[in-house]
Amino acid sequence: MLDQAVKRIKSGDVVAFPTETVYGLGADARNRDAVDLVFRLKGRPADNPLIVHISEIKQLFDFASEVPEAALKLAEKFWPGPLTLVLPKKSEVLDIVTGGLPTVALRMPDHPLALDLIREADPLVAPSANKSGRPSPTKPEHVEADFGKKIMVLDGGACKLGLESTVIRVDQNEITVLRPGHIDPQEIESVAGLPVKTEKPDPSKAPESPGMKYSHYAPDAQVELSTDLPAKFSSDTFYLIVPKMSMDTETPENVILYSNNYSKLAEELYDRFRQADLQEYKNVSIIGLREADETGIVQALLNRIRKAQS
Ligand code: TXA
Ligand code: MG
Repeated sequence: MLDQAVKRIKSGDVVAFPTETVYGLGADARNRDAVDLVFRLKGRPADNPLIVHISEIKQLFDFASEVPEAALKLAEKFWPGPLTLVLPKKSEVLDIVTGGLPTVALRMPDHPLALDLIREADPLVAPSANKSGRPSPTKPEHVEADFGKKIMVLDGGACKLGLESTVIRVDQNEITVLRPGHIDPQEIESVAGLPVKTEKPDPSKAPESPGMKYSHYAPDAQVELSTDLPAKFSSDTFYLIVPKMSMDTETPENVILYSNNYSKLAEELYDRFRQADLQEYKNVSIIGLREADETGIVQALLNRIRKAQS
């Protein structure tokens, strides 16, 4: 399978592959036509740039024109893993990859199949392997649901984290979180030795990470965020309940209890969105996520759920 995938990538085709976060739709980052195919297949706007996936830290220098000390420290600490670094790009990095921006996003995924593929083929651009606007795929069957059988999928089973990587821009004096993820901002701050700010969406300003302006991750069902349990469960709603609670009767099949297990919710969220559509629920109601909780994972969950609502 790997050999065939490598051949396809080298011939300019795309291959879907697992990472620890979500499945990626991989193509040779140095082949303009292959990258263009990724945009066309996904139906992705040209101004939404792609992440270049590498297999060794030193490849940072092939794509970034400047690598601040802090970026290297972060790569050494968190790679392979769910962290994406946005750095000034080298002039030879294709404009189609970066959506014309002067920066490039780089990450080393923590998955043996992904690393083998990158090592044998080349650095890969890899957006999440879903049609634009749909929930990201965390299982091979999600990729097939969006694209049919025409795209080769390397099967790595279910992804262990389930939400996309934390995206940060590393400047000389500060770091900006462009997309929250599993890694806590405080941890980034202490490893990098630089202050970390989180980009709060300001509708009057152009977003710094273009992807953040698009609706995303959305099932057909209406997604609701709620602080309290409903007086009565409604049969047309799929409930994902975060806090610990016990039920007097048997838990109905449209109610999933997470007992404060945020990692489990993150791992399952997109699969639950897709399940809601397959089972034709009108609504998905996620109950009890606390805004005040500033951990990476809760902020990442809230961020994806809000995008699914917009
Ligand atoms: O976990 C992940 O990051 C997954 C797996 C497959 O690695 N990939 C992923 O890619 O989520 P994608 O294309 O779905 O999301 C990439 C995000 C977008 O929000 C995009 O706007 C942002 O990264 N991005 C890419 N290049 C950027 C740049 N130069 N400056 C700012 N944001 C950038
Ligand atoms: Mg995506």
